[in-house]
Parts: sequence; C-alpha cells; structure tokens
Amino acid sequence: MMLSRAIKFAPAARSLSTSVQNNMKVAVLGGAGGIGQPLSMLMKLSHPPAFVDEVAVYDIQHAKGVAADLSHIDTAAKVTGHDGEGELADALKGSNIVIIPAGVPRKPGMTRDDLFNTNASIVASLAEACAINCPEACIAVISNPVNSTVAIAAEALKKHGVYDPRRLFGVTTLDVVRARTFIAGKKGFDPKDVSVPVIGGHAGGTILPLLSRTEPATSFTDEERDALTHRIQNGGTEVVEAKAGAGSATLSMAWAGAQFAFALVRALNGEKNVVECTMVESDVTSCQYFSSQVELGVNGVERNLGLGDLSDYEKQKLEAEVIPELQKSIEKGQKWFHEQY
Ligand code: NAI
Repeated sequence: MMLSRAIKFAPAARSLSTSVQNNMKVAVLGGAGGIGQPLSMLMKLSHPPAFVDEVAVYDIQHAKGVAADLSHIDTAAKVTGHDGEGELADALKGSNIVIIPAGVPRKPGMTRDDLFNTNASIVASLAEACAINCPEACIAVISNPVNSTVAIAAEALKKHGVYDPRRLFGVTTLDVVRARTFIAGKKGFDPKDVSVPVIGGHAGGTILPLLSRTEPATSFTDEERDALTHRIQNGGTEVVEAKAGAGSATLSMAWAGAQFAFALVRALNGEKNVVECTMVESDVTSCQYFSSQVELGVNGVERNLGLGDLSDYEKQKLEAEVIPELQKSIEKGQKWFHEQY
C-alpha cells in the first residue's frame, strides 16, 4: 500500500535477486574525503553479522593512498583504491552497496542548499556510473543537500532504466544518532538504550525528531521538547561553526553512515526485522521522497513503516514546516536534472 508508487516504477524486465548476498562489496565514492576516509575504515573494521568482504575506495584523487593505508589494518576485508573517472567502473563492478559522500561540505553561514550547484552534478554523474556498472546495488546518498540529491540520483537511474525504489536511500542516520545522543544527555540515559524515530528530510526544519515516541518512555516539558528539536535540527550547523571553516560533520557522519551500511549488509544477508530511518521513495506523505522508519530486507526496502502516531506538535510541524520545504527541494532536484540531461 505504502509502496504502491514505488512498485509502479520497478522495472519489469530486470531479474532481481531475492537470495541472500555473499561476498559483500561496498564502494565508497568520495572515499578520500573527510567522511569517506573514516567511513572506509569502519567498513574495513566490520565484523559478522555485518562483515564486508571488500571495500572499494574511489575518489577523484588520493583514494589509492587511503586504500594502501587501510589495507595494512589486520582485519580480513580486502581494500582496493581507485583514482579518477577511468577507474570508477572497477570500483563499482560487483558492488552490493555504494555509499556516496562525494562533494563539497558546508562552511560557516552556508545552508545545505548552497551546495546544490556543485554537488548535484557530482551525484548525478556517480549515479549514472552506478546505473551502468552495478545496476542492482543499493545506493546510499550522503552528499548534501540530501533533500535534493536523492531525487537527482533517482532521475539519473531512471534515465538508464534501472531505477528500483527499493534500492535508493538518502542517509539521514546522523539525525537519529544526534537525537539519541542529545536525549540521552538530557535524561541521563545511555545513548545505546535510546530509540527515537527522526522523519522528514535532512536539512533544518525538514528534520523532525518524534520525541513523543522516545524509548525508554520519558516525558519532556514544552521547553525541553523545543530545545531538543531545535538542537537536533541544527546539529550539523553546530559542528560547521565549531570547525570554523574546516568542514562539516565527518567523524559522526562516518559513524552514522557505517551504522546504516551495516544495517543494509545484515538485511541483504537475510537478517529479519532490520529497521532504519532513511529517505526513500514514499507514499506516506505528499513528498515523493521522505525519511521514515523502513524495514530492510534482501532486496533493500522491504516495507515502509510509515509515520506511526504523532503528537499534535509533531503533526503541526510536519504539515507546516517539513512537507512544504522538502517538497520544494525534491522538485528543485528533479527540475535541475531535466534541464541538464
Ligand atoms: P570533503 O570535501 O572532505 O570530501 C569530499 C570528497 O569528495 C573529496 O575527497 C573529493 O575529492 C571527493 N569528490 C569530489 N567530487 C567527486 C567526484 N566527482 N567523484 C568522487 N569523489 C569526488 O567533504 P566531506 O566532509 O566528506 O562531506 C562530503 C559530503 O557529505 C558533503 O556534501 C556534505 O555536505 C555531506 N554531509 C552529509 C551528511 C548527512 O547527514 N547526509 C552529514 C555531513 C556531511
């Protein structure tokens, strides 16, 4: 029901694997960057049940050096390095998962949308390369503005006739990671015990933490709720300002990206009940792409768990702030793609 639009776009001619994956290969595009390096390292440090057999590090430059460095770590995963467009196909071939943190990050005073002009074409060209070299891979887009780049990647995949809405994800895990950390700090919980869905998009007011659904069950005063919501929505800006021009969140993002990638690995390996908040093509609101809790399976998205119960405060924010802005960003990405290609 919730995936009816998604199913409509699934290409009929492709044979989709329904069996569990072996020899898990993860490609990190932008692997020599601030996020890409620690993310590649976390892939190299993976272990069962989310073991990654091969990590392909790709960047326009310096990926071979990163790969050489990582390859000396005494874990079993194989690491390969690929520099420049001529080596992109080798990085992608045979990949089960492609993670894309390629592109420029924010500097103080910038919004994620200020990155659009540079990152839109980077994501479009990398998604096209995925369409050609690993059309059945799960693609996880980290590059900002995620609210637009997911739609751009979808259009690029559609152009090549290989778009499968079950296999394209916008990575919004860092918003969940921040929510768990900030709530734990406020309430004296261990962050690992905290569960809280964060829905919507990945920019300012489109990030909607559902504090009313926090587990362990707890209550917030209106002031606490407002302050926590604001801090979760602006966590990225907090880091950009603290780094004072030297980039945006890289280490926490690498951690979050790895958590998402490991969830995908476990699901592709056949583990059941793997649930993550992630931006996918969606019918749960009027936004074509929307982040909500999604159950992952051997083919990527197994089931969208939808919105669930929202408090009046959350309902109001969803309608007045999240949907209008996210919708605009999605349309901006789609319009851009069709003007360019
Ligand atoms: P960075 O500048 O440190 O690294 C980006 C890397 O991408 C560089 O190594 C660069 O050479 C590479 N690159 C550029 N064009 C490329 C291409 N065509 N193909 C392959 N690689 C290419 O930036 P950082 O800090 O790693 O951030 C990367 C992106 O992630 C930014 O757009 C940033 O806004 C975004 N981000 C997303 C978050 C999220 O929650 N989804 C959180 C934090 C950052």
